[in-house]
Amino acid sequence: MTVMMNTPPAPSSDSATARPSAAERHGVLDMPSLEYTDEVAREMAPLYAKVEKVIPPIEWPFFAPLIKAINELKVKRNAVILAHNYMTPEIYHGVADFVGDSLQLAREAAAADADIIVQAGVHFMAETAKLLNPDKTVLIPDTEAGCSLAESITAADVHRLRREYPGVPIVTYVNTSAAVKAECDICCTSANAVQVVESLGARKVLLVPDRFLAANVNNQTDVEVIPYQPGRCEVHERFTAEELNDYRAAHEGLKIIAHPECTPDVLKAADYAGSTSGMIKWVQDNAPEKVMMVTECSMSDNVAVENPGVDFIRPCNLCPYMKKISLGNILDSLVFMKHEVTVDPKIAGPARKAVERMVQLNI
Ligand code: 13P
Ligand code: SF4
Repeated sequence: MTVMMNTPPAPSSDSATARPSAAERHGVLDMPSLEYTDEVAREMAPLYAKVEKVIPPIEWPFFAPLIKAINELKVKRNAVILAHNYMTPEIYHGVADFVGDSLQLAREAAAADADIIVQAGVHFMAETAKLLNPDKTVLIPDTEAGCSLAESITAADVHRLRREYPGVPIVTYVNTSAAVKAECDICCTSANAVQVVESLGARKVLLVPDRFLAANVNNQTDVEVIPYQPGRCEVHERFTAEELNDYRAAHEGLKIIAHPECTPDVLKAADYAGSTSGMIKWVQDNAPEKVMMVTECSMSDNVAVENPGVDFIRPCNLCPYMKKISLGNILDSLVFMKHEVTVDPKIAGPARKAVERMVQLNI
């Protein structure tokens, strides 16, 4: 497995531009009480009844006051929390205003009616929200919430590809920095990659940076999809077709659904492949007796809450970047207004165009 350094750009350097910081613009609030009183227990009991199968009782007295405090702070701040499907259940079911895959979160960001957006996800998602909301304050609760795919490619790599493949359009997976998006023609997500590639009307298209997504899209279209070899997701590349076949042999009637960041062999061994929200919809539509979601761990917990009749077989690959986000640092982000995500105005314009082109395709 390739271990990549993951250092997303520092979210904000307001002092460099002499712009008031988010804390100066919005103010800092008092830290709310986090005591687990009888009143808190009573108020939060309906939520616990919903999530009790995936949150152990010993953790609830710690989570419940945080959830209550965050939900109250959101109202005070006129803030929304956009949470990716990989967030842990206490975030996903407790404090998120919108949950979804990257495409849905980008759409929600574009429509957000709030002064502040807190991105419970990774840095490229927060940057995408900022691109679509230049006038809003976008916060990420932990600056180390990066992504091995986003880290695998730079704007200079895209320049080199342009020279190597003159005239070939470049589609960038949304899991990239704004600097990379600014050099590409259009963005895509795992939910719409095939349609975006085909929308360009070209015979050949470069799809960066995930080499496995590119290979999987190539298998579904007549367009020649050229991959960028170094790019891969360190979570999904670990699953193997052999492992899937072993699970199938051990669990009669098991349905296997996989994310397209997995290898083509894994997708061949699966019954369905789709974005994280595509996988959720598949479970809702098909109501399988037993299912295995070949993706990040928290997905099964989150989906199990809403599909109590389905038995989830859970191989567990954690995304260490997604797991940087916790109720504790979401609370801090709303109290102290940290960490603000900004995008260099020189790259924001072209990067926004690449994202907007995708959003406007409406696919
Ligand atoms: P989705 O857009 O399918 O949610 O994928 C995002 C991601 O980072 C998966 O690893
Ligand atoms: Fe990036 Fe993979 Fe984590 Fe998704 S699961 S955020 S692609 S490292």
